[in-house]
Amino acid sequence: MSAMPTPPAAPKMTATAFSALKGSGRPLVMITAYDHPSARLVEEAGVDAILVGDSMGMTVLGHSSTLPVTVDDIARATAAVARATTHTLIVADMPFMSYQVSYEEGMRNAGRLVAEGGAHAVKLEGASAATLLLTRGLTEAGIPVMGHVGLTPQSVNALGGYRTQAKDATAAAKLIAECDALEQAGAFAIVLECIPAELAERVTERAGVPTIGIGAGVACDGQVQVFHDLLGLGEFVPRHAKRYVDAGSIIREAVARYADDVRGRSFPGDEQSTHVSGEMIDEAFSAVHVLNRSQS
Ligand code: KIV
Repeated sequence: MSAMPTPPAAPKMTATAFSALKGSGRPLVMITAYDHPSARLVEEAGVDAILVGDSMGMTVLGHSSTLPVTVDDIARATAAVARATTHTLIVADMPFMSYQVSYEEGMRNAGRLVAEGGAHAVKLEGASAATLLLTRGLTEAGIPVMGHVGLTPQSVNALGGYRTQAKDATAAAKLIAECDALEQAGAFAIVLECIPAELAERVTERAGVPTIGIGAGVACDGQVQVFHDLLGLGEFVPRHAKRYVDAGSIIREAVARYADDVRGRSFPGDEQSTHVSGEMIDEAFSAVHVLNRSQS
């Protein structure tokens, strides 16, 4: 009997390969994942990149913002994602205050996400002088950096809420300059979050690296979305997301059926149980008093 041919291994998506797809006409697909089963599923679905986002603060840790997320949280989640995947690009978010305090701390924390977590790249929010310096330093140290401008959730308190950014010419010019500066500093791609579609289209035409949109229209080089938003696992669907399945209802209904089965003693059934002879059990019960006596 001849053995089944092994399917060719999918080529590894690296930050360089991801960046080189700019202008190929093939939109890049990125989605968040924070654990082993979801990472396995999204890789099997054929995405190009996984973002271990600090959105995990809200989607899986139950916080009301991304601010409480720590480097330990992201490192552990990234390691779980890395163990589940073989060829998808893994980008780990640098959480709030993991790179704003000093250049050295930023370098060290990014290094942890790569060395401990197995990330292939990190993502930094904003384009301050310090962030640009760190982007250059990390890139030179061999850690590819994805930029992130527009609505940057780590600055929610300064921005005054989660709302569309760059809606006037002054703010749009600042965003265009930020993208230029990030590209010059070495960023291999830039997330554009919640900005007008027309602005994202022009920025995409201008940029030499891929733009990855979330709430930034269809003309970006790629899109990123939060796993829980697409699958109906969150409490609400943000305007920029689309619910492809109501997995929340499916899960709720399945767990309710399990509860009914337990309460009706129809679970576990014979298929989930192991059996031995009644004689063996009788023997065990008659032997137990000997053990009890020897222990007292
Ligand atoms: O943390 C995250 O999920 C993100 C995306 C919204 C881009 O940063």
